[in-house]
Amino acid sequence: MTVGQDAEPTDEGNPTSVSVATTASTLPRRLVELDTPAPVVELPRLNANLARAATIADAAGLSLRPHTKTHKSVAIARRQLAAGAAGLTVSKLDELAALRAADAPSYLLAYPVVTRAKATRLVDLLQSIPADLQVGVDNPAGAAALSDAAQYAGATIDVLIEIDSGLGRCGVPPAAAADLAAALLRRPGLRLSGVFTHAGHAYRARDGAELSRIAQQEADAVRYAAGQLRAMGVACPVVSVGSTPTFLTPVDRTGITEARPGNYALLDRTQVALGVANLDQCAFSVICTVVSTGPGRAVVDGGSKVFGLDQGAHGVSLLDGYGEDPERGAMLSWLSEEHGVVADPAGRFEVGDRLRFVPNHACATANLAGHLYLVDGETVVDDVPVDAPGGGR
Ligand SMILES: Cc1ncc(COP(=O)(O)O)c(C=O)c1O
Repeated sequence: MTVGQDAEPTDEGNPTSVSVATTASTLPRRLVELDTPAPVVELPRLNANLARAATIADAAGLSLRPHTKTHKSVAIARRQLAAGAAGLTVSKLDELAALRAADAPSYLLAYPVVTRAKATRLVDLLQSIPADLQVGVDNPAGAAALSDAAQYAGATIDVLIEIDSGLGRCGVPPAAAADLAAALLRRPGLRLSGVFTHAGHAYRARDGAELSRIAQQEADAVRYAAGQLRAMGVACPVVSVGSTPTFLTPVDRTGITEARPGNYALLDRTQVALGVANLDQCAFSVICTVVSTGPGRAVVDGGSKVFGLDQGAHGVSLLDGYGEDPERGAMLSWLSEEHGVVADPAGRFEVGDRLRFVPNHACATANLAGHLYLVDGETVVDDVPVDAPGGGR
């Protein structure tokens, strides 16, 4: 996306994040000193996950554009860029405003913009981003809103058509891409740069064979749509897929240019249940303290306001419990808002014990946390904000 020369910077040029992170002088140095519940990212695991993704992307000739909704952290996004990511993906304009500080060369807003207010804010935001920006579109009304805002600002907006590869959420069927492309091409101020999809239905896969089929379907869907666009004379340089389970599943990616996994950076119990990760690769956990014990149970200081209530994604229930400590063999059986209840028939846990739970869904849990301790073994290295916390606009 480009804007006219006369564009003025706006208030969004200096985003202020709602940071609850501690300052360097008050940062506890040792893991044991962290008050709980403590959201913790293990740096060696994070680095290994980023390196693994870079290897997969390189082998397949893909650019990596990680979805930052997983952590919404400038500090982690910078690490992703340093590990080879070509750009970043965001869902919300708030995320775009916050993640600009990561100084990525380019951003994709992979979420429909349909109102005039959002389209205007998008163009305003662009004026403070010295980076390329692409925006997803899946309907003519959204295209009209973007076109109007672009023309008003003297800007050109790069758009990607979102393809539904089977999730049944946003996106047009691959066979309808050409019709939407024709509508987009009639709109001044828009430049059609390609297609993208998110195979979130991979989270419904019952086994590895189904996951492989979905990964193939994801690639086939955008390949087909790109072919339709090229047949109309649209160059279609971007052919983008993206979900963690499909990215971590070997598949023929001929003709795909880009992958946008998000969760891969942290991983969680959902990815373990899908068979694409092990618990010892999960980089994110929450340390809790046992605050009460009773017959057959221990109660910790993390409930649904810490862990969320996800037990799977996209409408399916995949998991038992709400988090697990693999080292201590503890499972969060049920949650109330402020309490997590661990089944403890043998009475192994005592008041004051610290348990470290891998959450079901790292993205939701990090969002609730508002900040993240970056740690290396027993050493606390940093405390970084979740820079665009909450649901976001
Ligand atoms: C459009 C889009 N792209 C990429 C992703 C990343 O997928 P995952 O969370 O499986 O890594 C998501 C996840 O919600 C998404 O909605």
